Amino acid sequence: MPRLLVVHHTPSPALQAVLEAVKEGIALVEEVEPVLRPALSAGAADVLAADGVLLGTPANIGYMSGALKHFFDTVYYPCLDATAGLPFGVWVHGNDDTAGALASVARITGALRWKQAAAPLDLTGAPGPADLEACRELAATVAVGL
Ligand SMILES: Cc1cc2nc3c(=O)[nH]c(=O)nc-3n(C[C@H](O)[C@H](O)[C@H](O)COP(=O)(O)O)c2cc1C
Repeated sequence: MPRLLVVHHTPSPALQAVLEAVKEGIALVEEVEPVLRPALSAGAADVLAADGVLLGTPANIGYMSGALKHFFDTVYYPCLDATAGLPFGVWVHGNDDTAGALASVARITGALRWKQAAAPLDLTGAPGPADLEACRELAATVAVGL
């Protein structure tokens, strides 16, 4: 069964709600195994065993969170050759400006030559029903492509 790795930094109730919606979206797709890893505990072995990746982070000072950056610092060279073409999706949540965070993720996934499998999801403020539905859709879109 294809494995969808979810690497996330989830430091608040709003982001926990986002993560729950992402899990629901994956569960809509049969025959995909979700593998959830907080970004500070995910490693190269998780990526190498995955058929696709979902990345989730708050915007922090105009960049991805330090936790997700640590993940990329850890996996970059071990995965550089082996994971070219890996399908991925990303959500970013912030108070008002996620542009820098989204750009930082786009830059490093581009360097890894991962393949964007769904449009990046840009969330600001308290996640409402439409935001949570967009999270389900992001997750289901990446999952169904595996
Ligand atoms: C140190 C720090 C830096 C932050 N920088 C940004 C930022 O650059 N852009 C933004 O939109 N939100 C920023 N935020 C807000 C977080 O993205 C937000 O707190 C997080 O997504 C969780 O959402 P919540 O506080 O509504 O639970 C920052 C928060 C902290 C603690």
